[in-house]
Amino acid sequence: MQQDRLWNEWHPVCKAEELQDDPKQVFVLGERVAIFRNEKGVHAFKDLCIHRGAALSLGKVKNGNLVCAYHAWEYDCAGACVKIPALPNGRAIPRKAKATVYHCEEYLGLIWVNLGDDPAPLISYPEYSTEGYRTAICGPYEVKANAPRIIENFLDVSHLMFVHEGLLGDEDHAEVVDYKVDFIDNRFITSKIPVYQPNPDGRSKGGYANYVYEILNPTTARFTKTTDGSEDALTILLVVNQEDNEQSKAFMLLTRNYDLDKPDEPFIEFQDKIFYQDLDIVQSQKPELLPLDLQAELHLKSDALTISYRRWLQELGVENGTTPSDRHHKKTKI
Ligand code: FES
Ligand code: CO
Repeated sequence: MQQDRLWNEWHPVCKAEELQDDPKQVFVLGERVAIFRNEKGVHAFKDLCIHRGAALSLGKVKNGNLVCAYHAWEYDCAGACVKIPALPNGRAIPRKAKATVYHCEEYLGLIWVNLGDDPAPLISYPEYSTEGYRTAICGPYEVKANAPRIIENFLDVSHLMFVHEGLLGDEDHAEVVDYKVDFIDNRFITSKIPVYQPNPDGRSKGGYANYVYEILNPTTARFTKTTDGSEDALTILLVVNQEDNEQSKAFMLLTRNYDLDKPDEPFIEFQDKIFYQDLDIVQSQKPELLPLDLQAELHLKSDALTISYRRWLQELGVENGTTPSDRHHKKTKI
């Protein structure tokens, strides 16, 4: 059961602009996937030709069909093989000649793949299409860690003053006040958490920024940062694709309602810097799989949000790091 949860989630595999005329190979939960685009939209197949097992992603898109590079079997976007060049004229295409089709969507400037038979809804991120807001996409960030470790780092308030000292926090203001974590509308949301920052609103004067964190699903979280007395809001949505147990790919959507006429690059560069400050730490964490047993590590009240996350993963039955593919295959074989 626990595997189905991640298996039925949507996983961000690349930026939409990265998928053009040629198919592309991506990995989701240990599964090799070919994605391609035609005039009907974007599509995902298991990256395996049923003929001799070649990666379909090595092929090309011709007349809207995916053509295998090895012997040019041609699959339409529903996965049916519609042409086998080696077949003498008039000989029927075997009925078993099919590609395994997965769900695939272009959404929020990213391509998303869902391997499940019972796909969860795509996440809701209204800021992306709200007038007066502008979104920049950061990443992909390659991380040698399990997705929950990356999400948990994003939700961790008390590291800001040390790992991001001078940028997002100040060592002399390291205390974290008690905050609330509620579960509303199928997601966790915190009360405002004040964090002292050297320059929270761009006026180069120290002060408090307020963070409201949300956990949308096991591999998606966001926060919105505001300052008192200002309408400016910055939301960062973190989405992580667990490619396999040891490797993940993360994207961040930075959505702001200020500086709309300014280019995105400085925002992306700042975020890159922040992400790389976290990278060594996240990749160093042991055990690699987030411990869901709350007895396993030591927790403080300031860790309330990450405690909620661990508890939730446990309730949902997400067993960290175990890619569902093996289980899934066993299940479908029965
Ligand atoms: Fe794909 Fe032969 S392996 S056509
Ligand atoms: Co950090």
